[in-house]
Amino acid sequence: MNDAFIRLEQVHYHYPDAPAEALRGVDLEIARGSFVAVLGHNGSGKSTLAKHLNAILLPTAGRVLVNGRDTADEDGLLELRRTVGMVFQNPDNQMVANVVEDDVAFAPENLGVPPAEIRRRVDAALEQVGMYAFRLHAPHMLSGGQKQRVAIAGVIAMEPQCIVLDEPTAMLDPAGRREVLAAMEKLRRTGITIVLITHHMDEVVDADRLIVMSQGRILADGKPPQVFSQVEELKAHALSVPATTELLYRLNHRGFSLPLGALSVDACADAIAAALGRGSRDTAR
Ligand SMILES: Nc1ncnc2c1ncn2[C@@H]1O[C@H](COP(=O)(O)OP(=O)(O)OP(=O)(O)O)[C@@H](O)[C@H]1O
Ligand SMILES: [Mg+2]
Repeated sequence: MNDAFIRLEQVHYHYPDAPAEALRGVDLEIARGSFVAVLGHNGSGKSTLAKHLNAILLPTAGRVLVNGRDTADEDGLLELRRTVGMVFQNPDNQMVANVVEDDVAFAPENLGVPPAEIRRRVDAALEQVGMYAFRLHAPHMLSGGQKQRVAIAGVIAMEPQCIVLDEPTAMLDPAGRREVLAAMEKLRRTGITIVLITHHMDEVVDADRLIVMSQGRILADGKPPQVFSQVEELKAHALSVPATTELLYRLNHRGFSLPLGALSVDACADAIAAALGRGSRDTAR
């Protein structure tokens, strides 16, 4: 099958001079329009994997195909960068202009998009992330969450098919994080493919698919409830699970048999209420 949107085949990556491989044989297919979350502790290879999705890095062995085309094919590089956009952790490193709208226009300008079309795209992208009112502001005066939303707008303005976000909320305060998550949720409804790397459990619970990395390999891959149900295995790799799963898991050790896949607080509470013979919370009220 070569028609997967993004496909990694036995991808290995070894940083020059590093003692060991950062990726050790990753096989992965990402379906168009899906929201894929990637978890894994520090150094497990998440960022290295992300950088393979738009040829910032090329595999030292194996290959990556995007729309059926090998990312190592130099003739396809411009098209690839237009297809898969990246948002990184530090918004300050992603600002290139002195005015918000110029910053968002930067990538489409470089792609040779005509000016009227750039205007349309920039306005639409800023609207999309709720930053249109700030279009004439100076990026360095914005909050972290605002800057990160401008960075996301800059990627959207390229009209990519996929957006890869590498810990986009890691440097933000809770308000900034909420803003960025709201922008991402809105983006998701447009049907774009999203790959989100994060350390925050609550950001992955609603994903279509959750991939857990460990030591350069994929340790688990499935729907979030399935993946988190493998509590023992995750713990064996020093990975944590959402607080809801942890609670259900501990209760099960005390003699309950609760479903570990009840990830949301509501689902978790309902499961416990049902086990206590009270039906769901709604009927108990
Ligand atoms: N530029 C580099 N040169 C050499 N080794 C590197 C480089 N970047 C990353 N590594 C190593 O490659 C491995 C994977 O790193 P990577 O940054 O992909 O992990 P990560 O899962 O993104 O971690 P984090 O959660 O800290 O962001 C680690 O052992 C790391 O030390
Ligand atoms: Mg990383």
